[in-house]
Amino acid sequence: MAELAVNVDHIATIRQARGGVYPDPVHAAVLAELGGADGIVVHLREDRRHIQDRDVRLLRETVLSRLILEMAATDEMIRIACEIKPDLVTLVPEKRSEVTTEGGLDVKADAGHVKNAVDRLHDGGLEVSIFIDPDNSQIEAAATAGAEMVEIHTGAFCDAKTKSVRERFFSEIVDAARLARNLDLKVNAGHGLCYNTIKRFSGTGIIDEFSIGHSIVARAALVGMKTAVAEMRELVQRCG
Ligand code: PXP
Repeated sequence: MAELAVNVDHIATIRQARGGVYPDPVHAAVLAELGGADGIVVHLREDRRHIQDRDVRLLRETVLSRLILEMAATDEMIRIACEIKPDLVTLVPEKRSEVTTEGGLDVKADAGHVKNAVDRLHDGGLEVSIFIDPDNSQIEAAATAGAEMVEIHTGAFCDAKTKSVRERFFSEIVDAARLARNLDLKVNAGHGLCYNTIKRFSGTGIIDEFSIGHSIVARAALVGMKTAVAEMRELVQRCG
């Protein structure tokens, strides 16, 4: 059955809008787990625009499912990950000017640097996933870099304006997921998924875990975190 990892960055975004102490992503993670989340995801960005170091430290102590840390492959982040020891590190590209992660990591273009980061995280006892576009050469590069998993970027599929374009992007995701599985990589997927787009994965069994944040937090503002997670989890479980 496919699993759901809930990203709570946007709870921290609301907190940082006023620079105060609420709402707390640590509280949101508890409610997400009560709603059935199989994992909690946070992205500690270089500019600390939402999640703070304190959040990651506290989540490491309070998360009962699995803590997944998204981060850039920088010396600072590798040091923090090796110290805090999340259950999984997902390497993502990061640009200061972007509103959110814009594309997958170009593992091919930066193979030596990525492999070095994966090796250092492995030395710290951590499992590593790499966030990449649904592109076969990137999947192969992620396997060569030694990652245990890939997270396939679903953004283009979710943003497609027409059914035919969306189906083309969906086929790319399916092909990339098959190749990853053949290379013995676990296959996660995420970015931009909502309560409608997730339904396209129903019954496919191609994705092990979906990483979803914005649509759940947006729905939680109206129906509550526990309910929003439970509703998404039911849809995700149909994808297995
Ligand atoms: N996966 C990765 C690598 C991401 O950077 C993000 C956004 O933080 C997500 C998944 C979740 O995307 P969304 O918030 O659009 O569900």
